[in-house]
Amino acid sequence: MKPEDLPIGLFDSGVGGLTVMREVARLLPNENLVYLGDTARVPYGTRSGEAIRKYTWEATTFLLKEQIKLLIVACHTACSHSLEMLQEKCPVPVIGVVRSGLETLILHARGRRVAILGTPSTIGSGLYQKIIHQHDPQIQVFPVACPLFVPLIEERLFDHPATQLIADHYLHALRDQHIDAALLACTHYPLIRPIIQQAIGPKVILIEPAAAVAQETLQHLSLSNTLRQNKQPHLRFYVTDDPEKFRLIARHFFGSEVKKVHTANLFGED
Ligand code: DGL
Repeated sequence: MKPEDLPIGLFDSGVGGLTVMREVARLLPNENLVYLGDTARVPYGTRSGEAIRKYTWEATTFLLKEQIKLLIVACHTACSHSLEMLQEKCPVPVIGVVRSGLETLILHARGRRVAILGTPSTIGSGLYQKIIHQHDPQIQVFPVACPLFVPLIEERLFDHPATQLIADHYLHALRDQHIDAALLACTHYPLIRPIIQQAIGPKVILIEPAAAVAQETLQHLSLSNTLRQNKQPHLRFYVTDDPEKFRLIARHFFGSEVKKVHTANLFGED
């Protein structure tokens, strides 16, 4: 197979990474893509860094067997604990969701006040706060862990009063903080963007990293001459639990119907 025909691998703990895959498919419509959602073990967001690194490596090993040319870690939780390890160990280039989103966030931090919304593990890693301060120590960062967002989204309660109530509970304290912009540092959160906007206040700019990740992927493939052009793409979807359950919810995240979902067995692999 020609190098450009090899697929791009995308990985998330569940369905959230499809919001990134949607942008990649939009910007790179000829690329073959293979998606893996570790639905048997979602959520990662409440697990230890050690567990997250182990799961992420198992998922990466599975995708490497699919002969991917590049790996996109479409999960902030996995990225914030494993990106460095993956960039060291992985034989193919690795793009994560962390840096691309942060660059956009910093651009919008006119009053030097930003918020990071993510899972408890992402926020607990402190990585986002660290990178922002490396860029600009004057920026005041307000990190907020939102542990109930992922289960509410997985239950498809996108505009339910319960989700609004929880969003108000997590975010109301930010309303008095004159935040310029907030990073949606979880690939699930774009699904409840209107509710987050309402809870955090209308003036706060919400940043989703997916488009920037797709742009970074395009640049990388162009520079390495492995961009696939003028060909029909082949998209493949794998999960570690119940393909049908994933298929039913996937369209909300991917924007179109996902026809076939396969089961991946990655447990017990090194
Ligand atoms: N989609 C994952 C992320 O971007 C969160 C889901 C989880 O907790 O596993 O962080």
